[in-house]
Amino acid sequence: MRSIIDVMDLSVEELDELIASAEDIIEDPDKYAEVCRRKKLGTLFFEPSTRTRMSFEAAMYELGGHVISMSEAGSSSAAKGESVADTIKTVSNYVDIIAMRHPKEGAALVAARNASVPVINAGDGGHCHPTQTLADLLTIHREKGSFENLTIGLCGDLKFGRTVHSLCTAMSRYAGTKFVLISPEELKLPSYVKKGVLRKKDIPYTQTTDLEGSLKDLDILYMTRIQRERFFSEEEYLRLKDSYILTEEKMKLAPEKMIVMHPLPRVNEISVSVDEDPRACYFKQVLNGKYMRMALIIKLLKEAGRL
Ligand code: NCD
Repeated sequence: MRSIIDVMDLSVEELDELIASAEDIIEDPDKYAEVCRRKKLGTLFFEPSTRTRMSFEAAMYELGGHVISMSEAGSSSAAKGESVADTIKTVSNYVDIIAMRHPKEGAALVAARNASVPVINAGDGGHCHPTQTLADLLTIHREKGSFENLTIGLCGDLKFGRTVHSLCTAMSRYAGTKFVLISPEELKLPSYVKKGVLRKKDIPYTQTTDLEGSLKDLDILYMTRIQRERFFSEEEYLRLKDSYILTEEKMKLAPEKMIVMHPLPRVNEISVSVDEDPRACYFKQVLNGKYMRMALIIKLLKEAGRL
């Protein structure tokens, strides 16, 4: 059974197909309005979410399917001590496809191994978040026209930010990608991503704490939230939480064609006034995420012989 746990579970050709499929959905949504008729998506979110969960749900409804959701983890059997494996074996009997978010790294893999329907990882702890990357890739494709020769500044919590880990991995497959890793010393990109992805693929990157000084070289600035829930100490979070705030002033230092991305939710790291800047693309990412999830649901249901 094909599940999507990591963005590397999809080949570059498949990503191209998903982008083409999302573009087709955007072009003619009516054509897709009945594609998933009588199919059910199960959403299991053991961690808070607004966009990812609602976007999966909206995606399934717009494909003519149904959604059933586990209520909050605190009021489901997880609170009684049920394992992820048992929950998934159970839910597999009710639905055709599952989207799951869990605070533990690796939980999505455990789920996929125990499921009899496709599982989509909607975020596993500080590890990865492949469908946010699908949203990011469609945004880059639409705004930049290509994935090649892009210099991407990743700024904020690069240690715990799972969307950063997945985006790094995905973009490392395209020619001419360069990264500028902008973070406090304490929140640098983990070495398993640096060694296992960037160095392995010879992707040029620099590490810095300086956002202002980096802006002029960037095609894309990908801002992230400091991931409070993954910190061991609240004091440490409070010390680091306002490390970077992108303001209109700082945007004056950025190239005219640079785009600003953010997986959202935003806390403090982008001033609300930047939203008016035509380079701000984070709310476009939200919409693009829905279309890519629609494309992914169709693909996985077809492969599973359920469509
Ligand atoms: C991200 C996540 O959950 O990792 N949110 C999202 O799904 N768009 C980013 C974050 O929470 O900071």
